[in-house]
Amino acid sequence: MSAYPKTSALMQRGCEFLGSETAILCGAMSWVSERNLVSAISNGGGFGVIACGAMTPDLLDAEIAGTKALTDKPFGVNLITMHPMLFDLIAVCARHKVSHVVLAGGIPPKGSVEAIKAFGGKVIVFAPTLALAKKLLRSGADALVIEGMEAGGHIGPVATSVLAQEFLPELSADHLVFVAGGIGRGDMIASYLEMGAAGVQLGTRFACATESIAHENFKKAFFRGKARDAEASVQVDPRLPVIPVRALKNKGTEEFTAKQREVAQLLDEGKVDMGEAQLQIEHFWAGALRRAVIDGDVENGSLMAGQSVGMVTKEEPCAEIIASLMQESEAALERR
Ligand SMILES: Cc1cc2nc3c(=O)[nH]c(=O)nc-3n(C[C@H](O)[C@H](O)[C@H](O)COP(=O)(O)O)c2cc1C
Repeated sequence: MSAYPKTSALMQRGCEFLGSETAILCGAMSWVSERNLVSAISNGGGFGVIACGAMTPDLLDAEIAGTKALTDKPFGVNLITMHPMLFDLIAVCARHKVSHVVLAGGIPPKGSVEAIKAFGGKVIVFAPTLALAKKLLRSGADALVIEGMEAGGHIGPVATSVLAQEFLPELSADHLVFVAGGIGRGDMIASYLEMGAAGVQLGTRFACATESIAHENFKKAFFRGKARDAEASVQVDPRLPVIPVRALKNKGTEEFTAKQREVAQLLDEGKVDMGEAQLQIEHFWAGALRRAVIDGDVENGSLMAGQSVGMVTKEEPCAEIIASLMQESEAALERR
């Protein structure tokens, strides 16, 4: 008998799909979601996901092996669809028989979903619109994440509450939909579960867990940060294919504006095409995030954080965060 019977009953489909005790995913966070955090989440009853980001196949291979050494629970791997070696990365997942692969950052390229299913992996995709969600589910995706603009990192334009109202009534009877963006407490989890979500995905709330290798300075910035400090980046030139990024405001925010001007000028001079421009922007973010997470440069690096950052006030072990989210959800459902 679960300690959280009402929540567990609503999470049952999600738990069966993930193979975890709770249907709480820790979304992949580049540089943060490596073997230590991922294994701690899965060992703590949630579902951890390795952020492959810009890793090479060899690095991903080592990270999966390292994670397996720390947990025998299921975990996933998040691959960015625009990675130039996407199919080699899928082959690494196949060799390790990774149970779940999350395809993020764009529409999965032709053959990628099939390549994952071919080795028995389950495919989780992000869908920004209902029409695309239906198309992806028809073409073999096993589950969806809908992520609102309250989230940390790269974001879409619509709030989680609106996405949930659009997607869940249409899809939740026949499909697995996980809700992400702006979730800081279990009360919110209870509401999305009641609306039909199979589970939820959180990032910001887990970024500063005890087991997270994020630099002390990065964690302190999160503990100080309030919802209103986590701002979406501004697009300087409408031609640039810039996906907005939500992060705590600092000097790095201004550097991104300068970077956009630089890339726009390269476009004007015909020195780069649109695809190369987008890659340059993404490389900027990867480098900036590394500076903050790993080096602790919280002035110039990128402090990607969601609006729930105000609810992150101290370092806590992953298992305790998951337990308090479950308790809060259960208490909310009992009050109904
Ligand atoms: C520091 C940070 C880095 C992130 N990096 C990635 C990433 O590499 N790939 C990805 O799909 N999502 C990334 N995300 C999004 C998370 O996986 C997750 O979906 C999001 O944090 C959920 O919203 P929340 O921040 O409001 O909890 C990142 C989020 C943060 C805070």
